[in-house]
Amino acid sequence: MSLFPGVALITGAGSGIGQATALSFAREGCEKVVLADRNEQGLDETRAGIQKVNSECEVYDVKIDVSSAESVDYLVEEAVKHFGRVDYCCNAAGVLSNNERSDATTPEEFDRINGINYRGCWLCSRAEIKQMLKQEPLATHDGRKGNRGSVVNIASQLGIVGRPAAPAYCGSKAAVISMTRCDAIDYSKDNIRINCVCPGVIDTPMTRPNMDVLGSAIAIAPMDRAGTAQEVADCVLFLASSKATFVQGSALVVDGGYVIN
Ligand SMILES: NC(=O)c1ccc[n+]([C@@H]2O[C@H](COP(=O)([O-])OP(=O)(O)OC[C@H]3O[C@@H](n4cnc5c(N)ncnc54)[C@H](O)[C@@H]3O)[C@@H](O)[C@H]2O)c1
Repeated sequence: MSLFPGVALITGAGSGIGQATALSFAREGCEKVVLADRNEQGLDETRAGIQKVNSECEVYDVKIDVSSAESVDYLVEEAVKHFGRVDYCCNAAGVLSNNERSDATTPEEFDRINGINYRGCWLCSRAEIKQMLKQEPLATHDGRKGNRGSVVNIASQLGIVGRPAAPAYCGSKAAVISMTRCDAIDYSKDNIRINCVCPGVIDTPMTRPNMDVLGSAIAIAPMDRAGTAQEVADCVLFLASSKATFVQGSALVVDGGYVIN
């Protein structure tokens, strides 16, 4: 039996970590995948990639803006209209730091970063949880009791430690970690799991243009290299799966050791 008999939903699915996560669900046997992003070209690319790795996988994509409550509610409504439920939700849509200290950060920039990274992630997990509350658990790979759903938010190592000139970004990711823990407490009794992954420096279209300046950040990590989107996706899939039925409220760090230094 597939580890993923249900429906996967991924935001930020048009690029980087979200794209690798969507492809991984399909590769690991998931046959119903909802892709969401504001970048239509990225969605097309991910859909084409999925067809290559699993031609049985049915893909439904929705162009959304995660900072809009209406857009996010529409996404989950459409996913449920199409596939009946949502089981494994990965909220990966996000934007980079503006790389300014607080005195040089405008309220508009602060709101844009937090509106997508924190509020947008909250809007998505909120809509996903609302649907999960209405559904029963699926059968699991080894017959253990399953969950009604699993949410995996993408936070960051920079939600755990600080970095120069990134208060808006670091704050947005610390907020995602804290929100994940609170939701995990609140929805344990409803048999819904909420966890997050905290990537270190990962080679994606978000970071690739700045890899030269990221060298010093990479060197802080004992493993002294950038991670791959696949290495993050593998952790998302573990947390989403029925192999992680007792993992709740965790912030799984995937950073080559950055935060232990
Ligand atoms: N790459 C890294 O080093 C790194 C490290 C830590 C955390 N992260 C986090 O991982 C997540 C994915 O980052 P990535 O590196 O894959 O970046 P990416 O730029 O490759 O992908 C992000 C995707 O999110 C989408 N997106 C952005 N704003 C959106 C919005 N308002 N509505 C809908 N879609 C939106 C983009 O279109 C893009 O497809 C982000 O939350 C990021 O903060 C990345």
